[in-house]
Amino acid sequence: MAAYDFERLIVDIPDYPEPGVVFKDITPLLADSEGFAAVVDAIADHFKDAGITKVIGAEARGFMVGAPVARRLDAGFVPARKPGKLPRETVSESYALEYGTDALEVHADALSSDDVVLLVDDLVATGGTAVAQAHLVERFGARLAGMGFLMELAFLDPRSAIAEASDVEVFSLVKVG
Ligand code: PRP
Ligand code: ADE
Repeated sequence: MAAYDFERLIVDIPDYPEPGVVFKDITPLLADSEGFAAVVDAIADHFKDAGITKVIGAEARGFMVGAPVARRLDAGFVPARKPGKLPRETVSESYALEYGTDALEVHADALSSDDVVLLVDDLVATGGTAVAQAHLVERFGARLAGMGFLMELAFLDPRSAIAEASDVEVFSLVKVG
């Protein structure tokens, strides 16, 4: 079967949110039922035999792709939220972005050492968000089995940053650069 043309439904926005950044707008792809299904199915199919028990995804776009992938894998979903959004005790990791810095938190009972975790996001740029989540998973003693992304900004070399934190498999549907 021919590879799905995801890029047709991703719009480049130059100089957003700051000069020099080309923002990848995935909202047209999410709005296209066939395209959205193709994203979710391709990531879930790739990891279908990995024994995934939980998918972790970062606020906000990681929720949009991660939660449906979790359902396709019959796994639970763990939202990694921006600071101050979760109501109970949390564990937290800070990270650097292509633009700015932030932190991610999950509830202190979100994972157990028995969990096999897949990290899903719409896009990996510097890898900072993914590495922060890998550290969160590690703090629970859970096993990170893979990372699945719709898009990888390969020119920012996120795989080197990820490889420093984890030897996990990285799978991307679209590579840029
Ligand atoms: C975007 C994207 C990834 C992250 C990738 O999220 O959805 O989570 O950046 O960048 P990195 O590899 O350099 O860490 P963003 O933090 O912009 O938040 P949003 O999903 O709320 O827009
Ligand atoms: N997150 C980090 N860099 C990004 C980019 N260039 N486009 C969309 N989301 C991003």
